[in-house]
Amino acid sequence: MLKELQISLSLVLLLACGFLYHLTLRPHCLFSCLPPFRSPQGPEELLRQGHGIMFVETSERVEPPPLVSCAVESAAKIYPGQPVAFFMKGLSNTTRPAPNASNPAFSLLSALGNVFLLPLDMKRLFEDTPLFSWYTHVNSSTQRYWLHVSSDACRLALIWKYGGIYMDTDLISIRPIPEENFLAAQASQHSSNGVFGFLPHHPFLWGCMENFVEHYNSDIWGNQGPNLMTRMLRVWCKLGDFRDLSDLRCLNLSFLHPERFYPISYPEWRRYYDVWDTDPSFNSSYALHLWNYMNQEGKTVVRGSNTLVEKLYQKHCPRTYQDLILGPERAVTRELSPGAK
Ligand SMILES: *[C@@H]1O[C@H](CO)[C@@H](O)[C@H](O)[C@H]1NC(C)=O
Ligand SMILES: *[C@@H]1O[C@H](CO)[C@@H](O)[C@H](O)[C@H]1NC(C)=O
Ligand SMILES: *[C@@H]1O[C@H](CO)[C@@H](O)[C@H](O)[C@H]1NC(C)=O
Ligand SMILES: *[C@@H]1O[C@H](CO)[C@@H](O)[C@H](O)[C@H]1NC(C)=O
Ligand SMILES: *[C@@H]1O[C@H](CO)[C@@H](O)[C@H](O)[C@H]1NC(C)=O
Repeated sequence: MLKELQISLSLVLLLACGFLYHLTLRPHCLFSCLPPFRSPQGPEELLRQGHGIMFVETSERVEPPPLVSCAVESAAKIYPGQPVAFFMKGLSNTTRPAPNASNPAFSLLSALGNVFLLPLDMKRLFEDTPLFSWYTHVNSSTQRYWLHVSSDACRLALIWKYGGIYMDTDLISIRPIPEENFLAAQASQHSSNGVFGFLPHHPFLWGCMENFVEHYNSDIWGNQGPNLMTRMLRVWCKLGDFRDLSDLRCLNLSFLHPERFYPISYPEWRRYYDVWDTDPSFNSSYALHLWNYMNQEGKTVVRGSNTLVEKLYQKHCPRTYQDLILGPERAVTRELSPGAK
């Protein structure tokens, strides 16, 4: 009897130790990992504080390619005290298994203390916004640019709901954006929607969502994206052209100079993949947009190539560079020379 008691006590102790050990490891923590500096709240509560950085993936892809990984990692690095949320549609699909440590990018990002990989549930996101009736009536399979259009809608609703900053997944952060309510210009009089930030429940974004539904036309590329932001900005402000490197202001909104995010403009996007002997500081920029949709030829970072994009990875997303660019090559080297350490 005593012996049995002893055995069960040891078992309980063993289980408790195992549990504690498990708690201290955080390799696959998905929805419940909190940054160590936070009180125990869910990610939604963290985002509601209005300082979140948000990324969106509207395709079913849950295994981020290197550039996406770099965008999220660089934001996590530049905003260490703020939650970085990556909403992925694929994670809300319960019929497929969640990715795990076997995907290097997914495991790299989930291990970053202030990054949260979250399911993107559009129906729930659009509830209580003007987008809801549009979403419940649109037939996504007949929309020409559905991935883009749905992404345009998600970013408006997310930033309206939580506040914070939305960023495209081909934007490498290099220094903090010192603005609360802002749009980013691609050129004088033309806004982008690849990055913007607002305090929660800002009326500008509510107006954007109403205009989205009212003028919805999915056959025109950008009609719900950059063109929508530009239309609304013209309603909100009377804008002049940019002079020198100054931003423009109207009411409580800043319209940021093209240099802040687009120091290399889209016709020149290949320059990111050129060899640069100098190490440019981009000291008028907060983040660099790599124009990935222009990259139909699938240019990537090649280790040792000394291209601008390689330098950017090394400096601004060092883990992505290590694990996704150097990683596979190192694995091959290890296989070839099993004795090497
Ligand atoms: C969920 O994932 C499965 C398998 O990857 C796919 O066939 C299906 O279309 C997805 N469901 C939705 C609603 O996207
Ligand atoms: C991880 O995912 C791969 C497929 O993506 C699967 O084959 C493997 O069994 C999974 N491993 C674990 C431990 O879940
Ligand atoms: C959506 O459009 C497709 C293609 O035209 C059609 O087959 C499908 O039935 C439509 N779905 C709904 C819910 O109307
Ligand atoms: C920004 O300005 C708009 C229009 O004047 C106003 O409705 C809104 O409340 C302001 N928002 C903040 C956060 O100051
Ligand atoms: C930015 O860099 C340029 C050239 O590298 C330099 O001339 C300029 O002074 C710098 N500006 C600031 C604000 O540091």
